[in-house]
Amino acid sequence: MKLIPANFLAGSLRLPGDKSISHRAALIAALADGRSKISNFSSAADCASTLSCLRELGISIQREDDKVVFAGSQRLAAPHRSLDCGNSGTTLRLLAGVLAGSNFTAELIGDASLSSRPMRRIIEPLELMGAKIEATDGKAPLKVRGSNELKPITYKLPVASAQVKSAILFAGLNAAGRTTVIETSPSRDHTERLFNGFGVPVTTNEDLSMTLNGPARFGGGSITIPGDVSSAAYFVAAAMLLPGSKLTIEGVGLNPTRAAFLSVLSSWGADISTTGIQTERNEPYGTINVRGGLTLTASDRTLSQSMIPSLIDELPLLAVVGSQIDGGILIRDAAELRFKESDRLATTSANLRAMGANVEEFDDGLRVHGPTKLRGALINSHGDHRIAMAFSVAALLAEGETEIEGAECVAISFPEFFTLLESLAKR
Ligand code: S3P
Repeated sequence: MKLIPANFLAGSLRLPGDKSISHRAALIAALADGRSKISNFSSAADCASTLSCLRELGISIQREDDKVVFAGSQRLAAPHRSLDCGNSGTTLRLLAGVLAGSNFTAELIGDASLSSRPMRRIIEPLELMGAKIEATDGKAPLKVRGSNELKPITYKLPVASAQVKSAILFAGLNAAGRTTVIETSPSRDHTERLFNGFGVPVTTNEDLSMTLNGPARFGGGSITIPGDVSSAAYFVAAAMLLPGSKLTIEGVGLNPTRAAFLSVLSSWGADISTTGIQTERNEPYGTINVRGGLTLTASDRTLSQSMIPSLIDELPLLAVVGSQIDGGILIRDAAELRFKESDRLATTSANLRAMGANVEEFDDGLRVHGPTKLRGALINSHGDHRIAMAFSVAALLAEGETEIEGAECVAISFPEFFTLLESLAKR
């Protein structure tokens, strides 16, 4: 994909449903007693992986465009073949939690990237609960032998991970008694919100612990998934950095554990506001308004510690933003980025350098100096959707043409990305 610079971004749009919420809504609907209808279901290939795995498990699902209907009162059945999670860590890790409480064995597989990502983080708690999981060197393929007699556990997460937290909570549905997960830094809380929204109480406490009493079953029902704020982030960043831009994004998820990107940029002086906030099954959503041009107000642009989990998927994009602002940006305590769809500290710094930015790479972060006029370059996405999209934003700001290699990987989370970007970019 070749991209040329833009003068500004203008327009108004709505986005396909949030990827994280769509995965969870589909799993909940598959397990629910009643009928469920999910509207504005994510168009991401990752969420299609969740639906196809559920179908392999015997769940009948009707999908028409962005509407997905589950009849309710269905039971998972042993699959006839391996469950292919594609590129999707959320599919694999959350489904492992669901399968932990089944009465059969199922194998979870993924593509090369997913098969190189760490899985001990879910194997350990799920085995403590009574499932048996075979892996190769702690990685997928994972063979999960479920147990009808899962034990509830109290588990302190060694890494801040919503996927691990959620795997344990899904397993907790089938454990008799109180399952407690303790976090050290708050990660996205969609599982807790949707469990509560679909009739399974999860209590969250001030000490960052949460508790679920099992066994428990969901009631089912309807949900309209809010637009994906992580997809919105690319347009927000481009609009904010291109003076003269005016952008409105309606119906976007504004869950604080996901929308920290917006509050961080506003606190640095970006003209970003949110209006018309409503909720759907405990998930807040509303309109994001952005005007281009940044009046920097903050001097310390360090992102670290407990801020990291709620910015995790936006950090490559924030590194690009850092290259454009006076004083740059410092990201620390983000070693988890090395275990995403690519090693995002390495792929972000290599691509920023290819565009002429001055970047220091640490074990757990990056320092990006700024402001720098970026030059168009050949960008290697490493098949990582967030890298392809972050550097498409960089391409709009650069001098000359940029080519994104492997750009089709944007379909993992946002197939419409390039079409929407082109419709908003004014030249
Ligand atoms: C996700 C959680 C995050 C995030 C991923 C989606 C989720 O991963 O990076 O894109 O839906 O739970 P971790 O929980 O492993 O940090």
